[in-house]
Amino acid sequence: MEKITELLEIQYPIFQGAMAHIARYPLVSAVSEAGGLGIIAAGGLSGEELREQIRETKKRTKNPFAVNLMLQMENISEQVDVLIAEDIKIVTTGAGTPKPYMERLKQAGIKVFPVIPSVKIAQKMEQLGVDGVIAEGMEAGGHIGETTTMTLIPQVAQAVNIPVIAAGGIGDGHGMAAAFVLGACGVQMGTAFLTTTECPIHENYKQAILQANDTATVVIHKEKGGAIRGLRNELLEGYSKNESGEVFSLAALQRAADDGDVQQGNVMSGQIAGMLTQVRPAKELIEAVYAEAEAVSQKIVLR
Ligand SMILES: Cc1cc2nc3c(=O)[nH]c(=O)nc-3n(C[C@H](O)[C@H](O)[C@H](O)COP(=O)(O)O)c2cc1C
Repeated sequence: MEKITELLEIQYPIFQGAMAHIARYPLVSAVSEAGGLGIIAAGGLSGEELREQIRETKKRTKNPFAVNLMLQMENISEQVDVLIAEDIKIVTTGAGTPKPYMERLKQAGIKVFPVIPSVKIAQKMEQLGVDGVIAEGMEAGGHIGETTTMTLIPQVAQAVNIPVIAAGGIGDGHGMAAAFVLGACGVQMGTAFLTTTECPIHENYKQAILQANDTATVVIHKEKGGAIRGLRNELLEGYSKNESGEVFSLAALQRAADDGDVQQGNVMSGQIAGMLTQVRPAKELIEAVYAEAEAVSQKIVLR
């Protein structure tokens, strides 16, 4: 199988996970410029806003970057038109199947990487003709499935013959090396990129992640499907009492990301937050994770 770095023409097999409302051109261009794969989160953007994000990213880097489509949104067809017109070459997808758009994406020469939570969906995606899958374990921040990264990656890697990118709970070189040992050929990190200098979120959000420990997150479940992980705070604790679906909205995330309200906003974060202790440029994070993964993988001794 061709290496993911060669397939996508990137330097490091490290994806910056799409983060709704957060993964905008400042972060995306910094990641791609550093040799990783920056990914614009299109969820919540109009076609015109998406076009602007793509153009602003292109002004800042000549390296490849991707766009993430949140498939439950109503304007996906319009967003696909924009991707094709703006010559985007890599797309990741979440929250549904890309099936209705596959023909157009493939005709335009776009490589498609759906985020998947199980072996069954990974196999379905392979049959659909996707170029790889991003297998995301429930350690991740944001919307999550039920299986851990530790158990999901080896089972998906065994079940499909396309590249598997591991996501969920990876924040350093140990995590990256472990993902490769489990059968992945790349990693996607979200929470770790929240702590980068270029990440355009309120300082309170970054500080909340830095201060979090290993048990600081909580998962709340919508009555019918859908679960999200975020830092335990008044909003998420309150959900168990009043079950207001507002907590799942983009507005709840915006209160934390824009206004810095880390009690009444949804501070989406993964469990790896407990290990993140510094704000640094995306380039430093990527290079440190990669160098540590290389060093760690050469030192594995089983007996
Ligand atoms: C604040 C936040 C927002 C996210 N929004 C999206 C999104 O819009 N689309 C998507 O496919 N994944 C989304 N994710 C998931 C990330 O892309 C990534 O897969 C995940 O964060 C990886 O796990 P980690 O947080 O343990 O690194 C989001 C994650 C976070 C923390």
